[in-house]
Amino acid sequence: MHLECTACGKQHDWSRLQNLCTACGKPLFAVYDLATLSKLDRLKQSSFSGREKSLWRWRELLPLPEKVEPVSLGEGGTPLLRATKFGGDVDVDLWIKDESLNPTQSFKARGMSVAVSMAKHLGAKKLAVPSAGNAGGALAAYAARAGLEAHIFMPRDTPRANIIECRELGAHVNLIDGLITDCGAEIALRKEKEGWFDLSTLKEPYRIEGKKTLGYEIAEQLNWKLPDVILYPTGGGTGLIGMWKAFDEMEKLGWVDPPKDGFAVANNKRPRMFSVQASGCAPIVRAFEASEKFAAEFPNAHTVASGLRVPKAIGDFLMLKILRESKGGAIAIDDDEMIRTVREVGSKEGLFIAPEGAACFAALKKLRASGKIDTGDRVVIFNTGSGIKYLDSFEGSF
Ligand SMILES: Cc1ncc(COP(=O)(O)O)c(C=O)c1O
Ligand SMILES: [Zn+2]
Repeated sequence: MHLECTACGKQHDWSRLQNLCTACGKPLFAVYDLATLSKLDRLKQSSFSGREKSLWRWRELLPLPEKVEPVSLGEGGTPLLRATKFGGDVDVDLWIKDESLNPTQSFKARGMSVAVSMAKHLGAKKLAVPSAGNAGGALAAYAARAGLEAHIFMPRDTPRANIIECRELGAHVNLIDGLITDCGAEIALRKEKEGWFDLSTLKEPYRIEGKKTLGYEIAEQLNWKLPDVILYPTGGGTGLIGMWKAFDEMEKLGWVDPPKDGFAVANNKRPRMFSVQASGCAPIVRAFEASEKFAAEFPNAHTVASGLRVPKAIGDFLMLKILRESKGGAIAIDDDEMIRTVREVGSKEGLFIAPEGAACFAALKKLRASGKIDTGDRVVIFNTGSGIKYLDSFEGSF
């Protein structure tokens, strides 16, 4: 129907390119007519099983008008795998959503498929993004597919695989001596003159729409019963925020149990959401522990989990609200523990996971030991990317 500001509620027109709220500069969310959609016969939970596997199976709940062809490479529809061995060790019912099977090997494909589809539909010609690595690769692929220009700004020490991938996919690659925040600042400075549309995390409204399909998929894969706990490796937070939006939409559609007493968490129907970050860059963990509404920029950010090296996120207040409302939390993991855990999960489960995903497995052990996760809880861990992109990080660990 329209775009709505997540902070001040101001409405914006969806039918032209939009970035942040024109009144307060905060992120915009897409709003759907869920009351009408919930009455459609073709929109029942059971109607999805026969549809295509990609995230475009959720077409009516995505922003692209129905007659417009999406820019797609077969993203989404990833497996939710039972982790019997690792889960047995910590006595929980553990599931892994393996996002490394997406195009360009990470969950960033979801957001970029929807955002590039919308940007192309609304007339953008040149797309720009600051990236810790995987978002750049995904944009390069979808921009190529769409026939649009991609301008990617990455820290100079981004994993080599990401840099090479962007270049081979035909993107304009700019390496910056600094962090992702410096890359974002460079785009902001030049975008008007260069005619770039800024696709930074949460600075346009549709990457999150792609990411929210993670929430729809796990609900469907768990037979429309949401898990008790979600562990999510958090940088900019689009997956976390997107899933929470999906849970909200699914309740309004009547697909999952609506909250009783008007408050989902009193009834514990929604999962407890945990943000997992790296000890070397943990702004959300710090702000959560200090009961802050916003997260201050984390100084000297460093970690091998490049996707978690986000010292300041524009969606900080949204993440912190979700963590608190869901009665979840936030936890930081050391790099050497992530690297050790990659091998543990690899040898136990047969998956070569990204350090970001490994952080969640290490977090599971800690949260279980501290009693924040109970015995028998159903837990979903997001392995957001593939270890194959981070070979440099494993060189020293033989
Ligand atoms: C593999 C991986 N995991 C997690 C993240 C963090 O994602 P989000 O911005 O949704 O918090 C990133 C972001 O670059 C990533 O590449
Ligand atoms: Zn606003």
